Amino acid sequence: MRKIAVFASGSGSNFEAIAAAIENGQLEAEVALVVCDRPGAKVEKRAERYGIPVLSFNPKSYESKADFETFLLQQLNEAGIEWIFLAGYMRLIGPTLLQGFEGRIVNIHPSLLPAFPGKDAIGQAFEAGVKITGVTVHFVDEGMDTGQIIDQDSVRIYEGDTKEDLGRKIQAVEHLLYPAVIRSLLQEKIKR
Ligand code: GRF
Repeated sequence: MRKIAVFASGSGSNFEAIAAAIENGQLEAEVALVVCDRPGAKVEKRAERYGIPVLSFNPKSYESKADFETFLLQQLNEAGIEWIFLAGYMRLIGPTLLQGFEGRIVNIHPSLLPAFPGKDAIGQAFEAGVKITGVTVHFVDEGMDTGQIIDQDSVRIYEGDTKEDLGRKIQAVEHLLYPAVIRSLLQEKIKR
């Protein structure tokens, strides 16, 4: 079984979509580790419900990003992790992990990149008044949401939609797109 890690800092609904896809046989993989940089985040409870080990750490207790990434790299290697999937991990990945997992770190972002990178992409799209936004899955590089795009799906914003409506529609699309892209990556149907 291919072992993957999911990195999350918040609610973990995308983690749960991945775990559920595995449980119902749509995705052949094992989430062998959830990495969380905000101890107490909701994703911890979700992982617990699936019996998946969680590595929660506080970045502030390390001197530098290189320090905590060295620790993470060691834990990921010990657990036999092949791929890292970021799902709401609110932190740029540094050179230590990028080198250790070259071409095997992927992120999901709630906009049609390169539009609206960075924080609150849903709010940015909403404020800009665009009629179509969406979801992007991309390889991770040293930049903020700048890596090579793997797949995208669109979401239409209708007259009268609130930001919350848009958030719900984006999440529904994310929960289908991410497990599907992970499946293709693990089956090596997508090459970098
Ligand atoms: C998602 O919208 C994802 O695209 C972004 O962060 C959010 C995480 O949501 N990177 P959740 O924690 O998976 O519910």
